[in-house]
Amino acid sequence: MISMSFRRVPTGVPELDDLIEGGFPADSMILLVGFPGAGKTTFSGQFLYAGAERFGARGVYASFAETKRTFIRNMLRFGWDFERLEKERRVAILDLSVTREAGLQTNLNTIMETMTSMGAERLVIDSFTAISMALKDAIDVRVMVHLLYKFLKKANCVSLIILDQPWGSTSIGQGIIEFLADGIIYLETYFDEKYNLRRRLRILKMRGTNHSKSPHEYEISEDGFVILKQKRYTVEELEMMTMPALWNIARELGVSRKGRKQELINRIIRATLGVEKRLAPTISRKRRKKPAKGSASRRTTRSSKRIRAEEESEK
Ligand SMILES: Nc1ncnc2c1ncn2[C@@H]1O[C@H](COP(=O)(O)OP(=O)(O)OP(=O)(O)O)[C@@H](O)[C@H]1O
Ligand SMILES: [Mg+2]
Repeated sequence: MISMSFRRVPTGVPELDDLIEGGFPADSMILLVGFPGAGKTTFSGQFLYAGAERFGARGVYASFAETKRTFIRNMLRFGWDFERLEKERRVAILDLSVTREAGLQTNLNTIMETMTSMGAERLVIDSFTAISMALKDAIDVRVMVHLLYKFLKKANCVSLIILDQPWGSTSIGQGIIEFLADGIIYLETYFDEKYNLRRRLRILKMRGTNHSKSPHEYEISEDGFVILKQKRYTVEELEMMTMPALWNIARELGVSRKGRKQELINRIIRATLGVEKRLAPTISRKRRKKPAKGSASRRTTRSSKRIRAEEESEK
């Protein structure tokens, strides 16, 4: 049982895997929270597509918002052919809608039947918000979360549950699902000083995982969801910089801009080092005790090595 909790499921975004010890914990329920247009659907598509194409994991995309046609068309822009995956029965895309309590249970049954018949290991629900809005008056959100949670525990899969966050809102969910979730990935869009739209990701929670605590810039490119490599600085480099330049870096990293130059430099080094350790596994591996043959952490290291080798060969 102990080894089960260490099995990792690659997210489809290799840079993100490096920030969460190789991937999502197996059988976990992950909330993907973000503003309109943040890239929630793109991320989920990549999670399913990479799952099916690279990791042999079947998946189900349950859409309560976009139609199946739009989803397939938009994903094709990244070169991800979901129509083919569906024909090959490696992915199922379900066009669903909820109008009342019975509606939700019926939909959950449909999802469960599809997942069981395919042997799916990945599930996306796009979005939890769309379901709860449809049910607002007919059913207590608590009842709905309970239904969903019970369902997911039975489903034996990694589930990505999308939460739509309205502009200007700072709260995540309604105070129930956030506590039940095993992980929370937060996608934020904002404008920089030149009024360009920028994106950054934070990992707010990932149970059983020493995850990155820093914000990470990402882009939606023609290849899909990409986390940008964070620039790393040496103390000497930072000491040569002016205070406004340091404030800028601190702001981008999401750390406090207060204090004297040396304090600021220390804070920046700390924030970027936290990432450096994870991005360069050779540093930490040297210090780590060699795991016993066949143990879970050994398997994790091996599989993340394999994934990285695959990434290299794809380039
Ligand atoms: N092919 C593409 N190339 C580059 N960027 C793209 C492409 N397709 C979408 N985008 C960017 O991604 C954004 C939308 O991504 P996505 O639909 O994944 O967001 P979302 O968070 O699911 O949005 P919503 O809240 O509306 O459901 C677009 O607004 C655009 O900025
Ligand atoms: Mg979407």
